[in-house]
Amino acid sequence: MNGVPIDAPLGVTYHEFMVNLERSYHVAGFRLPGTCRVNEQGTLVVGGVEVTNLVQRFGTPLYVFDEAHFRSRCREYRAALARFYPQSRLLYAGKACLTTGLVRLLLQEGLGLDVVSGGELYTALKAGFPAANIVMHGNNKTPEELELALTSGVGRFVVDSFDELDLLEQMAARFNTTAEIWLRVTPGIEAHTHSHIQTGQIDSKFGFPLVNGQALAAVQRALVLPHLRLRGIHAHIGSQILETEPFRLLVGVLAEFLATVRASTGQVLSELDLGGGLGIRYTEADDPPAPSDMVQVIATALERECKERELPLPQLVLEPGRSLVGEAGLTLYTVGTRKEIPGVRTYVSVDGGMADNPRVALYQAEYTCALANRMLDEPEETVTIAGRFCESGDILIKDVRLPRARRGDILVVFSTGAYHYSMASNYNRVPRPAMVTVYEGEADLLVERETYEDLTRLDRIPARYRKWAAAEAAASGSYRNEDGLAR
Ligand code: LLP
Repeated sequence: MNGVPIDAPLGVTYHEFMVNLERSYHVAGFRLPGTCRVNEQGTLVVGGVEVTNLVQRFGTPLYVFDEAHFRSRCREYRAALARFYPQSRLLYAGKACLTTGLVRLLLQEGLGLDVVSGGELYTALKAGFPAANIVMHGNNKTPEELELALTSGVGRFVVDSFDELDLLEQMAARFNTTAEIWLRVTPGIEAHTHSHIQTGQIDSKFGFPLVNGQALAAVQRALVLPHLRLRGIHAHIGSQILETEPFRLLVGVLAEFLATVRASTGQVLSELDLGGGLGIRYTEADDPPAPSDMVQVIATALERECKERELPLPQLVLEPGRSLVGEAGLTLYTVGTRKEIPGVRTYVSVDGGMADNPRVALYQAEYTCALANRMLDEPEETVTIAGRFCESGDILIKDVRLPRARRGDILVVFSTGAYHYSMASNYNRVPRPAMVTVYEGEADLLVERETYEDLTRLDRIPARYRKWAAAEAAASGSYRNEDGLAR
């Protein structure tokens, strides 16, 4: 069997452990992540809190954040770096999921932060994150974003194009400062992952290609710009990568580039950021390497490749997102309509879908789900979990074995911590879910549930339109409020 929970979290009783074992048969071999376990009533418990309790207090759909799991992933990465390559830094890729509360947690766990927009930067600064520990990414940072980053004292800028080299130079000069930069290069490595989340190949909107000499030309250009200080090289080869080999190849390619830079400019660059990309378990078929395995492969390769070229060891930077936060998240939904089409399919619809999880429609992503209030019930039927949004493609999971789902049951989808909340939309004017952190038996809001009021908060009715409505109201004699809306 695939999913035996040999690494049961501390504090789990033997009985709970056995129930968990039992459980992993029910979710088709998928070992429940993090602190998830099942109590005697068959209710899923996460962070020490029963999900039925969460649903009562916070409603559904609900993003649940297993704080202990997130912390343990941060620590696993940090411990592996400290052990295998002490001259290193761990950044969290905020694009995976960022809120002001999460920023506080990153501070406590001692991580730096990678941001990719003014909004992520603002979130970090607002929560009190030190700008010096922030790295600013983006293939098209706007002048306004660069200004915010420059004036707040962001630690590193990852420059992505010749155009941006010049823009940043001009702006740094204008603000009378020096920007410390890395150049993002495209190393020409194709990781085995969905084409939309591959970024290391040559034909990419990201970075300077190595093979055609543009990366070296960018180094040469950066070195003569007086308000930029070139510190290192950055590369990111893709996401949801389930093997260590592409990272080992990446290290070789980048070490070779550092040697080329030294040979042609005399400069020895001292920082090397290998991006993120390590995959996680969405279904029992996914078998990603542990962060510590990946770190060890990278560290060993980097030492060897540098030694061969007599390069000093650079500072190593990693910036994972998904592999820190992905399995720490789960989404709870309430089951609603059930539609049986005899001989074809049974649809079980839930109160969320593609607006809170766009990954199925975008990347044909696959997930594991269960009835969280009936974890010990035997599966009885094969159903398809449909979302509530107005598109046929709004399907969350196809052909899953479940106990017979009834209206009001709670459906849990696992591994929804990365690129769910951060990619959520208000499609169909459905308010976005709340997010709660659960930890040692307590549940607290990280993000409030949006309200209908929030949905119209930024809408404006142009003055001209108000006149039309007022005229219509006068004609019909019906009562309208000041915005011209019927009461
Ligand atoms: N660094 C850079 C420069 C990146 O572009 C990314 C992700 C990361 C780090 C973090 O990668 P991770 O460790 O999370 O794989 N929305 C897609 C994933 C897009 C990844 C974008 N860049 C998805 O839901 O699968």
